[in-house]
Amino acid sequence: MAKQIEVAGLDAYYGAHKAIEDITMTIEPRAVTAFIGPSGCGKSTFLRTLNRMHEVIPGARVEGKVRLEDQDLYGPDVDPVSVRRTIGMVFQRPNPFPTMSIYDNVAAGLRLNGRFSKSELDGIVENSLKGANLWKEVKDRLHKPGSGLSGGQQQRLCIARAIAVRPQVLLMDEPCSALDPISTLAIEDLISSLKRDYTIVIVTHNMQQAARVSDKTAFFNLAGQGQPGKLVEMDETSRIFTNPGQKATEDYITGRFG
Ligand SMILES: Nc1ncnc2c1ncn2[C@@H]1O[C@H](COP(=O)(O)OP(=O)(O)O)[C@@H](O)[C@H]1O
Ligand SMILES: [Mg+2]
Repeated sequence: MAKQIEVAGLDAYYGAHKAIEDITMTIEPRAVTAFIGPSGCGKSTFLRTLNRMHEVIPGARVEGKVRLEDQDLYGPDVDPVSVRRTIGMVFQRPNPFPTMSIYDNVAAGLRLNGRFSKSELDGIVENSLKGANLWKEVKDRLHKPGSGLSGGQQQRLCIARAIAVRPQVLLMDEPCSALDPISTLAIEDLISSLKRDYTIVIVTHNMQQAARVSDKTAFFNLAGQGQPGKLVEMDETSRIFTNPGQKATEDYITGRFG
């Protein structure tokens, strides 16, 4: 079910401000791709263009192409809501629906789009929680509020919610930045196991994390204040961290960044 993403000549704007410019890349299925680069270089913006979440911001627009294998995601007859279902997103702060139970948090997306029997729902909720490596910790409290879990558990609950609707791609924007080191390692392990089934993109400001979890790394940078962010280079993670092609990449990963 994992699919390849192909981006060509992509620009993204907020009103008149061009936040990213001329991004072209291929994102491989069944692999983890990390986006790194200084704050403000457009990593989050670019991530949101991949599942059509960018355009929900008033005045925001995209130029260029994003293809999910044979489908042009910005084609005239494409429903952005279905794109967001196919390409799920996990955010920086775990955001479970606070008044809902653990079970209902996972089932929420399914109830929106389908008719499932109680036993089908039970099965999908269990499998999604197992997939998110949370089942053992919550199986005896499925009907307690999701907000009662620890931060790391809440983030795994959000991942369970995202995979319950069977996406093809998972986008994660700094998913560990609000978590302690133990929970961070649990999420990293989870990401490594999920890549068997999904195309995964993770934004991270943590170089060690990018080196640990990703197969490919894309480095983005800003030419200057007010300039749009650009893709500097993308390569095998091992190469980016040992022998990058560009000096700007080397300066950034070795901490010699301006
Ligand atoms: N909702 C928004 N409205 C207007 N400008 C925004 C918005 N979000 C981000 N930007 C601008 O877009 C640029 C890229 O930001 P962002 O994608 O958040 O970068 P990063 O995730 O790499 O830190 C920045 O100049 C930022 O100020
Ligand atoms: Mg960001």
